[in-house]
Amino acid sequence: MTSALQGRKKESWKLFDEIAGTYDLLNKLLSCGVDIYWRRKFIQNLPIKQNLLALDLATGTGDVPLVLVKSKRISKVTGIDLSRGMVEIGKKKVVKANKQDQITLEIGDGCNLEAADESVDIVTISFGIRNFPDPQRSLREIYRVLKPGGRVMIMEFGVPKSKIVNAVYMFYFRHLLPFVGNLLSNHSDAYTYLNETVEDFAYGAVFTSWMKEAGFKNATFQELTFGISNLYIGDKK
Ligand SMILES: C[S@@+](CC[C@H](N)C(=O)[O-])C[C@H]1O[C@@H](n2cnc3c(N)ncnc32)[C@H](O)[C@@H]1O
Repeated sequence: MTSALQGRKKESWKLFDEIAGTYDLLNKLLSCGVDIYWRRKFIQNLPIKQNLLALDLATGTGDVPLVLVKSKRISKVTGIDLSRGMVEIGKKKVVKANKQDQITLEIGDGCNLEAADESVDIVTISFGIRNFPDPQRSLREIYRVLKPGGRVMIMEFGVPKSKIVNAVYMFYFRHLLPFVGNLLSNHSDAYTYLNETVEDFAYGAVFTSWMKEAGFKNATFQELTFGISNLYIGDKK
């Protein structure tokens, strides 16, 4: 990774602050709505327990907490993000959904967790960990805050394996998406950054090997939509 990209990752929340107003709309538009189907995978893979306490890192505008509370197994969700702009929009969505009793959104650093050791049942991150400067350290932090038997679920972009899908997708991802994203968000390069961080990310088997190194057992991943996105799951012993 170039040191410039590493530097940008440390402060990526500032970029999200600048595009917060158009973030949700562009998510739906640029993923053709498939992001809704991807986030639903979190509730399809919950541990078989009741009264689960969840922590969602890099929560953005709160889409993952709002999906999680659709499951009766979830008791409460705390979502943290460093971008005030994203969190403020998320708070409004929580009020609109009337879920204030179950969801709390706060400003917080997903790389340095304030949560106590062994205090939550689930940690989720969707499309956030590739922005964290040291994902291996973050995985160790997540392991620390999970209760024994707790589960981490991480959704992140990948790169399709099929040559044909890869060729079509890469044209879209490297050219069309940055052009349309930067134009509609009125930002010089927010969606170019998206493209750079995705291509830089250690997806697939490399990432699951990092999960195992951090202590997670049964670390696996499911490819979603030809591997454009992956859901990584691991359990704490
Ligand atoms: C692509 S958005 C994903 C938001 C949301 N999880 C979703 O699925 O739509 C990435 C988010 O990561 C946040 N972020 C980046 N670095 C962070 C950090 N160190 N701690 C907490 N949030 C961070 C950004 O502010 C941004 O809201």
